[in-house]
Amino acid sequence: MLQFELLKTEGLARRGRLTLNHGVVQTPIFMPVGTYGTVKGVTPRSLEEMQAQIILGNTFHLWMRPGLDVIRQFGGLHRFERWDRPILTDSGGFQVWSLGEMRKISEEGVRFASPVNGDKLFLTPEISMQIQTVLDSDIVMQFDECTPYEVKGHLTTDAEARASMELSLRWAQRCRAEFARLENRNALFGIVQGGMFEHLREESLAALVDMDFPGYAIGGVSVGEPKEEMLRIMAHTPHRLPAHKPRYLMGVGTPEDLVAGVAAGVDMFDCVMPTRNARNGHLFTRFGDLKLRNARHRADERPLDETCSCYACRGTTAPDGSVAGGFSRAYLHHLERCGEMLGPMLCTIHNLHYYLNLMREIRESLEAGRFEAFRVQFAKDRARGV
Ligand code: GUN
Ligand code: ZN
Repeated sequence: MLQFELLKTEGLARRGRLTLNHGVVQTPIFMPVGTYGTVKGVTPRSLEEMQAQIILGNTFHLWMRPGLDVIRQFGGLHRFERWDRPILTDSGGFQVWSLGEMRKISEEGVRFASPVNGDKLFLTPEISMQIQTVLDSDIVMQFDECTPYEVKGHLTTDAEARASMELSLRWAQRCRAEFARLENRNALFGIVQGGMFEHLREESLAALVDMDFPGYAIGGVSVGEPKEEMLRIMAHTPHRLPAHKPRYLMGVGTPEDLVAGVAAGVDMFDCVMPTRNARNGHLFTRFGDLKLRNARHRADERPLDETCSCYACRGTTAPDGSVAGGFSRAYLHHLERCGEMLGPMLCTIHNLHYYLNLMREIRESLEAGRFEAFRVQFAKDRARGV
């Protein structure tokens, strides 16, 4: 089940409400990545505190470990990982693609050796639908081939991108049929491919719209192309998708990319950047990015971001006035230098809070009809420096 209501628009930007089997998602939204059934370094309680509305999981990884028998025993991913709000799972297409030379793609599917134990495995559109049905994710992604930007030292040609895009279309059709056969009650999204070729993206989009999915994703971006190419595709495709259905830009991006994506008509984003960068001491703040390892933070008593209300920056104040959390840059720098586990945990809380709060501010600005003004202030703040 999926319902999508457009509440307000400004230019191409949209404020919407997405209703799924496990709850309501206010859009535009950022979805934290929880590949192995956990958003690395944070508890579900912490995700709730930062008001995460929907998180990701990965078909491929969860199929490898713990395996479908365990997830089936738990009645799906929600109860297994103790997250009762919506979950979106990627189909495995992109993850298998990322294995590089270790895979072999045919019409039927993708043959590859398990990166965990070397077992020979075969993933097809049908198997991906079967796995995602066991996971019981609220949003199921079609099994696709992510067209690479470059192969073997040359840029992907029009003919190569077309062949890949057409394969993904045939797989989309097979996913649809299998999803229906399984009587899956969640929502299946189609994925627009076509590489860096706008006419191929338009063909892919038209064919997927004919198949009438409840939502659409834009795939095959952030695959090693120059930034301008990513921005060109991001400006080209979203607004061509059906207005009354949710639009998801896969694997993007920086805070600036999210703001540009919303302006281009995107409703949903996911990216490993806030979580992965947190673990590397790369922090996002309202006033620009901050590298925790830098010696300038050694004795700095300020929080990462004075305007941030996350546990790491501001902490929480109990009714009796006692304060928990609210850490200095000096302390976080120290944790980083010592390799202490608390460092990445706090940094992940902050970065995710920053991304989720950015999307909240975007939603509020759309509701107030001042998204354009928000964009100007956002750019100005980010350029100020920490
Ligand atoms: N994640 C980022 N890009 C893609 C893509 O093109 N396809 C899939 N399935 N997942 C992605
Ligand atoms: Zn913070």
